[in-house]
Formats: sequence, C-alpha cells, structure tokens
Amino acid sequence: MDVANTFILGLKRAMSEQLVISIDGPAASGKGTLARRLADYYHLPHLDTGLSYRAVAYALIARGAPLDDVEKAIEAARSVDLANLDKHALSAHHVGEAASRVAVIPELRRILVEKQREFAGRPAGAVLDGRDIGTVVCPDADVKLYVTASAEVRAARRLRDIESRGGTAEFDEILSDIRKRDERDTGRSDSPLRPAVDAHLLDTSKMSIEAAFQAARKLVDETLAKRNDI
Ligand code: C5P
Repeated sequence: MDVANTFILGLKRAMSEQLVISIDGPAASGKGTLARRLADYYHLPHLDTGLSYRAVAYALIARGAPLDDVEKAIEAARSVDLANLDKHALSAHHVGEAASRVAVIPELRRILVEKQREFAGRPAGAVLDGRDIGTVVCPDADVKLYVTASAEVRAARRLRDIESRGGTAEFDEILSDIRKRDERDTGRSDSPLRPAVDAHLLDTSKMSIEAAFQAARKLVDETLAKRNDI
C-alpha cells in the first residue's frame, strides 16, 4: 500500500474512533474559545460545562433561594437539560460568580458530572471545557489541555467582553472578582480546579487565540497519528 493510501486509511480510522478532548482552566483563560475552535475543526460536539453550574445558580436566583440551599440546588441540577441551556441568559458576570458558590456542593456536582459524562460518551467523542474535566469528568480523555493566563490579562479580557456587549464595569472590581473566583475554584474540597497530571499546559497570557489553537491542534494531531501509526 502506498503512503497516500496508508495515510487516508489512518485518517479514516482516526475519524471513526472516539476522540475526547478535555480543556480545563480558570475563568476567562480563553478555554471556551479554544474548545469551540477545536470542536469545529475536528467536527465534534462541544460542551461548556460551566453553563450547567450557571443554570443551577440561575434557577436558585430566579426562585429567590439562597445559593447554599442544597435541596433546591439538587432539584435544579436534576432538571438541567444540557441540550437546552440558554447561553445568553447564563453568560452574565454575576451568574458566573453565583455558579462558583453553588459548585462547592458535592451532591450537585455528582448529578451534573453524570450528565456531562453521558455527553462525552457519544460515539464520535466530544470537546468538554470546565474545571474538573481532565481530573474527574473524563480522566481517560485522549488529549487534556490546561489553559491559563495571568489574572490581569483575564480581567482585561472579561472587561472587553462586557464592554463589547454594551455593558460597563471597573477593571479593579473585575480583577478582584476573578481572584476571588480562582480562590473558590482551586480551594474547594470537592473537585478543585487543578491540572491533571497528564495535561498539557497552555499559558495564553501572551498568546493569541490563533497561536493557542495551533498549539492545541498539533497536540491532538500527534495523538491521532500515534493512535493510528501514521
Ligand atoms: O466556566 P464558567 O465561568 O462558566 O464557570 C462558572 C463556575 O462554575 C466556575 O467558576 C466554577 O466554580 C464552576 N464550574 C465547575 N466545574 C466545571 C465548570 C464550572 O465547578 N466543570
């Protein structure tokens, strides 16, 4: 068989096998944009797992319930439908803050993790981004990425994001929120934010999203080539 045929066969096998990519990292690190680019490139479904925690927080706020009401949080988590998350309503800055407070509840995490694992188990695989994907949700992911950036760079990104949607905010306030959120996400006892031991680290502080995408794509292609010996 000539080289071209071997390559095509390898590629076909690569396409028919499941490919799971996990992307973890702190708020506004660029992991969501990277996840969407990779999902698009490899024709995989994408799940932003942060939205599921945001959906629970949003439901509690809407019902006027405190964010540490475990019973109501569990009820809200059970009714989260991953196929029907209102990204627009859930993307508000304060909903992200509230999400990191409800995300400390272990029973709620178990319910959402189960739904996320089901999503990741699709025949083609999937790209999932969040805080505990490589460590808890998909410990056997084919490629694990951990995306970071300095708190200042992330605060500046978040501010640009808010302003581009017509909102206003103070840089110092956003920076302080981001630091508090990092503390909550890395300091909780259940599934804290941390890189999996086998994750590839990508620091996007001085990297364009295009450069981050190219670096990630190279890692995924290497994994596919190894798997298929091409
Ligand atoms: O990524 P995003 O900002 O939408 O996440 C909101 C919050 O949800 C995070 O700060 C974190 O506390 C929680 N989260 C989590 N595990 C995930 C995804 C998000 O605990 N896999």
